[in-house]
Amino acid sequence: MESAPCFRGAELQALIAQMNALGPWFHNFEIAENVWTNPNGEPGPDYPERRWLEVEPLLPDLQGLKCLDVGCSSGFFSLKLKERGAQKVLGIDSGEQIRAIRQAKFAAEVLKLDVEFREYSVYNLAQLAAQFDLVLFMGVFYHLRHPLVALEAVRAVCSGTMIFQTVTLEHQKQLIELKTELTQDVSFGDGLLRHPQFPSISFIEEKIDGDASCWFLPNVQAVSAMIRSCKFEAVKYIFPTNREVIVKCVAV
Ligand SMILES: C[S@@+](CC[C@H](N)C(=O)[O-])C[C@H]1O[C@@H](n2cnc3c(N)ncnc32)[C@H](O)[C@@H]1O
Repeated sequence: MESAPCFRGAELQALIAQMNALGPWFHNFEIAENVWTNPNGEPGPDYPERRWLEVEPLLPDLQGLKCLDVGCSSGFFSLKLKERGAQKVLGIDSGEQIRAIRQAKFAAEVLKLDVEFREYSVYNLAQLAAQFDLVLFMGVFYHLRHPLVALEAVRAVCSGTMIFQTVTLEHQKQLIELKTELTQDVSFGDGLLRHPQFPSISFIEEKIDGDASCWFLPNVQAVSAMIRSCKFEAVKYIFPTNREVIVKCVAV
């Protein structure tokens, strides 16, 4: 992190002890000079820096913006938004990821970044009675049992841009859609429902590749259709791999 302070001696040892006591961390970032939160664990030492490099070019000018980071985990993206000049940043996490909010608060304190972190579920966002110019909704959708309820809740508090990321069924790193006049008025009998480009979602009842945290895998066409149906317009798609998508959306 650009804000990473330099600690030495006993102060450094105390910081490392506190950080380790809060582990395991999901995000790996430099919380203080040469001190990394998760250099050896999953999802790999280059995460979330590699995601940031994909997402940063999609962001609007952050000066003066109010930002929300849904499912913020250890807080990396919220903290980056603040470093880049956002006026206000709120990171929320439901606490399914152990100690996420405590980690994020600790990191904000060490980095001296004024970011608010709250244990809060995406489903309750409307109760915040707030509006955000930018919402990050990344890495959360497929973990939810009620993904459309969540996307509607995000839309209710987003007055500007949403950056959406999810894993998907395998794709060719592009979005090829059937005409919406076909997919929005479909018949049981015409075979269209079985077309590979028809929006569809696979329900994962137990595990996928040993991972028990995913409930749904959409194809990219379903991602596009759900975003549209929740009153967002997708303005840019990025395909980091053939099993995920990042979408820049604006509220309409
Ligand atoms: C895979 S992590 C993604 C973290 C981060 N957004 C990223 O892209 O690196 C998913 C996060 O979503 C959080 N989460 C799961 N269900 C949630 C809910 N209902 N409301 C808010 N956060 C939730 C989990 O606790 C976890 O921290």
